[in-house]
Parts: sequence; structure tokens; C-alpha cells
Amino acid sequence: MSRGQATGDRDHGTVGPGAGRVVARALIAQIAGWLLVWIAAPLVASQPSMLALALAQGLTAAVLSAALRAEPWWIAIHLLFSPALVLALSASIAPAWFLAGFLLLLLIYWTTFRSRVPLYLSNAATARALLGLIPLHQDTRVIDLGSGTGTLLRRCARQRANCHFAGVENAPLPWLIARLACRALLNVELRRGDFWDEDLSRYDVVYAFLSPAAMARLSLKLDRELAPAALFVSNSFPLPDRAPDEVLELSDRRRTRLYCYRGPGRRF
Ligand SMILES: C[S@@+](CC[C@H](N)C(=O)[O-])C[C@H]1O[C@@H](n2cnc3c(N)ncnc32)[C@H](O)[C@@H]1O
Repeated sequence: MSRGQATGDRDHGTVGPGAGRVVARALIAQIAGWLLVWIAAPLVASQPSMLALALAQGLTAAVLSAALRAEPWWIAIHLLFSPALVLALSASIAPAWFLAGFLLLLLIYWTTFRSRVPLYLSNAATARALLGLIPLHQDTRVIDLGSGTGTLLRRCARQRANCHFAGVENAPLPWLIARLACRALLNVELRRGDFWDEDLSRYDVVYAFLSPAAMARLSLKLDRELAPAALFVSNSFPLPDRAPDEVLELSDRRRTRLYCYRGPGRRF
């Protein structure tokens, strides 16, 4: 496969700034936001309410984070963080609920702060399109990198008893849900672990629904490991350094795009 130079932070598989810089930028915006509000508030009002201060801090932090060229969702987070905190504290919710919420999010999102690949699920239209790429009468080995709650694997495995479907997921709760939901499907194998440790050369079809942050590193891994006759399908996020052999645009609501990359063997 022809390709240019992969871009991005190779140690973490990300493009754009690494996780450390993203966190540093967010902290600077938040702390500077509070400092500016603390200095300016007495000049504007004698006894501002805590909510008014939080709204002013949110606005300041959002402007600062935009000036620091943060991603758009960070700007929204800065805008809402302090006001939401003040409102939550004034609602006198028992501290245990905050701990429970934190633990739940941790079990679902696990290393998302580092990988920048959150959980969202492939839909039924995607599963149908993927099945369309797998030959009917061949034993095919398929892997879903970051298999989430196993939704895609389940849908595909039910239709193709002759194929083997593997999934690797590192977040505990989605992995557990997938294990329970797929327990009756003998052609599904789910592992809890890091898909970067997976040897992709054993698969005929490699599927991924990740994020732009993972694609440069994944491209290098595919370069090293994808079997010549294998097919790589990426939901929504193209590889940064090569043109896809085919792009399937689905007619679902989000107009899902599947970027298909074939090895020189072109079995699929
Ligand atoms: C966008 S979701 C896709 C879920 C599933 N593949 C689907 O299409 O429905 C991406 C998943 O990859 C998982 N993930 C991210 N980095 C991972 C890694 N290095 N190893 C294993 N799983 C990972 C996340 O926890 C998340 O559940």
C-alpha cells in the first residue's frame, strides 16, 4: 500500500498535542479564569453571588481556552464547569453520589483521558454494511479493535455462524456487558486488554471505530501487521496518510462513512 509519512505523536498514537499538553492547557484556562474573576469582581460588584462568579469564571476560562487554541468541546467544558459545580453543590447532593458517578464514568471510559477514544457504538446499518463486505461462504476471522459493549460483533456473529469474531476492549464495564451479551454466541471471542498489543496479522477483516487521535499510530501498526489479503474498515475516521480503496456512505441518520483499505492480495 502506498503511503506518505505518518504524522502525530507516535508514543501515544495521537495527532495534535499530547494528553499532558491538553491537561496543562485546561488547568491554565481554569486557574487563570478564577484569578481574573477574583481580581475583577470587587471592581464590578460589592457582593456578587457565587453563581454569578462561577458564570463569569466559566466565560473567562472559555475565552482563554479558545485563545490557547483548545478543541471546541474544551471551550464548552470550560464554559459550563464552574457554574455546574456551584449548582451541584447548592443542590445538597450526598457526596456518595459524586463518588458513585465518578466510579461509573471511570468503569465506562477507563483510559479515554489518554487514548482520546471514547465509547460510542456502531449502529445496525454499519453491521449490515460490514457483513456485505465479508464473503458469504468463507470462514473469515474478523476483529473489532476496541469492541465496546460488543454491539457490532453480536449483530455480525448472529448472521455468520461460519466466521470467527474477536473483540478487544480495555474499559471494564463495556467489556463485561459485551461478555454477558455474547455469552451464547460460540463464534465470538472477547478479551479485556489493549488492542495495541494485538497481532493483526491473524485476521482477514480488521474493523475500528476509534477517533482521529488514534489513526496515525494505527496506520503504522497496519503497515507492519495487516495480512496482504486482509481488509481494514474504519468507521468515520480515515487513515491520515493514504487514500481509501473505497468509501461506503450509508444512508443512516448520521450518514456513516466506512473507509475501506485493501491489502495487495485483495481477497475482499
Ligand atoms: C468508539 S468505541 C467503538 C465500540 C465498538 N467498536 C463499536 O463500534 O460499537 C471505541 C472503544 O475503544 C475502546 N478503546 C480505546 N482504546 C483502546 C485500547 N487501546 N485497547 C482496547 N480498547 C480501547 C474504548 O474504551 C471504546 O469502548
